[in-house]
Amino acid sequence: MGICDSTMGLSHTLLVMALLLSGVSSMKSQAYFNKTGELPCHFTNSQNISLDELVVFWQDQDKLVLYEIFRGKENPQNVHLKYKGRTSFDKDNWTLRLHNVQIKDKGTYHCFIHYKGPKGLVPMHQMSSDLSVLANFSQPEITVTSNRTENSGIINLTCSSIQGYPEPKEMYFQLNTENSTTKYDTVMKKSQNNVTELYNVSISLPFSVPEAHNVSVFCALKLETLEMLLSLPFNIDAQPKDKDPEQGHFLWIAAVLVMFVVFCGMVSFKTLRKRKKKQPGPSHECETIKRERKESKQTNERVPYHVPERSDEAQCVNILKTASGDKSTTHF
Ligand SMILES: *[C@@H]1O[C@H](CO)[C@@H](O)[C@H](O)[C@H]1NC(C)=O
Ligand SMILES: *[C@@H]1O[C@H](CO)[C@@H](O)[C@H](O)[C@H]1NC(C)=O
Ligand SMILES: *[C@@H]1O[C@H](CO)[C@@H](O)[C@H](O)[C@H]1NC(C)=O
Ligand SMILES: *[C@@H]1O[C@H](CO)[C@@H](O)[C@H](O)[C@H]1NC(C)=O
Ligand SMILES: *[C@@H]1O[C@H](CO)[C@@H](O)[C@H](O)[C@H]1NC(C)=O
Ligand SMILES: *[C@@H]1O[C@H](CO)[C@@H](O)[C@H](O)[C@H]1NC(C)=O
Ligand SMILES: *[C@@H]1O[C@H](CO)[C@@H](O)[C@H](O)[C@H]1NC(C)=O
Ligand SMILES: *[C@@H]1O[C@H](CO)[C@@H](O)[C@H](O)[C@H]1NC(C)=O
Ligand SMILES: *[C@@H]1O[C@H](CO)[C@@H](O)[C@H](O)[C@H]1NC(C)=O
Ligand SMILES: *[C@@H]1O[C@H](CO)[C@@H](O)[C@H](O)[C@H]1NC(C)=O
Repeated sequence: MGICDSTMGLSHTLLVMALLLSGVSSMKSQAYFNKTGELPCHFTNSQNISLDELVVFWQDQDKLVLYEIFRGKENPQNVHLKYKGRTSFDKDNWTLRLHNVQIKDKGTYHCFIHYKGPKGLVPMHQMSSDLSVLANFSQPEITVTSNRTENSGIINLTCSSIQGYPEPKEMYFQLNTENSTTKYDTVMKKSQNNVTELYNVSISLPFSVPEAHNVSVFCALKLETLEMLLSLPFNIDAQPKDKDPEQGHFLWIAAVLVMFVVFCGMVSFKTLRKRKKKQPGPSHECETIKRERKESKQTNERVPYHVPERSDEAQCVNILKTASGDKSTTHF
């Protein structure tokens, strides 16, 4: 009994010591993928001990050394290959910065500070920190994977968001009309890059689009932190049902009219040219008649046929009339 009590007491004190050593507090730290993370040590150097008398180092959960400073000098010998050239030590606040953070870097880190006395290393301070790594998913983007066809009225939409971490909770479409909001749940497809461990996620859905209303579709991505990322709206305008055929008829009529006008114009042009070939144009004829008149005054005998002056002028006017009348009638 007595032995048992004493061993329990001993283990208790050992536990307390361990807790004191670990500083009790395990800091949480967050870093973004491909950016710089901080691994704090939170050492309050109350005795103002010089770095020259200390041995400071960080280890990851596999006890691989990230960084070591031995009596004021960096000691790269013990540093593991995967951390070489990726760290920088901030002497002012006893923080180690880890650059180019990868998803694989998430985990627990320990920092140790020992006093290098004449009798060897004396532990002074220890702290652990949990590093979590995030990558911001891109803003979800809606794309059309197949358009609304005339008879189906179905439009296939895909929404995707890329290069994020950790895995998001949920992804869905939301269809908003003037008065209603409908949520469409579908299975989220995800693919993870086997090197970076980042996720691409997407959803796809065929929509039966109500033709009479304008709708806007949103895509939402709910992250692990319960934050939401929203896409820009994808707007589908109402298809004017009744106006469309009317407009179609109007267009048809207009097209037929235009073609008719063009056709008639061509016909009149051809007939005019034919007439010009067969008989001289009206103005030309008038001139000849006038000339003939002058000549007939001079030499009446040379004119094979004589037309009275008055009827000459009337004929001239008539020809002009019919020539111009021709044009206008062929338009109809
Ligand atoms: C990491 O960031 C650098 C620029 O800071 C960029 O050139 C590189 O493409 C990024 N790498 C990844 C995997 O995102
Ligand atoms: C350490 O100091 C740097 C500035 O020198 C600051 O950016 C950083 O947040 C500090 N870290 C901690 C853990 O206090
Ligand atoms: C700590 O020691 C350094 C010299 O090692 C001295 O310059 C500094 O003023 C001291 N700081 C305090 C708070 O005692
Ligand atoms: C990630 O997004 C948050 C806001 O959601 C922002 O504060 C942070 O700067 C972003 N980080 C990067 C690396 O873009
Ligand atoms: C859908 O139609 C629009 C134009 O109406 C076109 O720009 C787009 O490329 C089409 N998309 C597909 C997947 O057919
Ligand atoms: C839309 O996608 C579904 C599968 O998700 C497919 O069966 C359907 O044929 C597609 N619709 C069109 C109009 O392409
Ligand atoms: C919305 O409500 C108004 C009146 O409350 C109604 O006139 C309209 O047709 C509704 N629109 C839709 C898309 O249901
Ligand atoms: C994620 O999307 C990016 C950009 O579209 C692409 O380059 C990458 O291969 C995708 N990764 C996976 C795992 O699908
Ligand atoms: C990653 O996946 C590709 C095929 O998708 C494969 O060729 C490559 O070996 C994989 N790399 C690792 C590190 O597993
Ligand atoms: C749909 O939106 C357009 C503008 O984008 C607007 O002119 C039209 O009146 C709207 N139609 C309905 C049915 O709300």
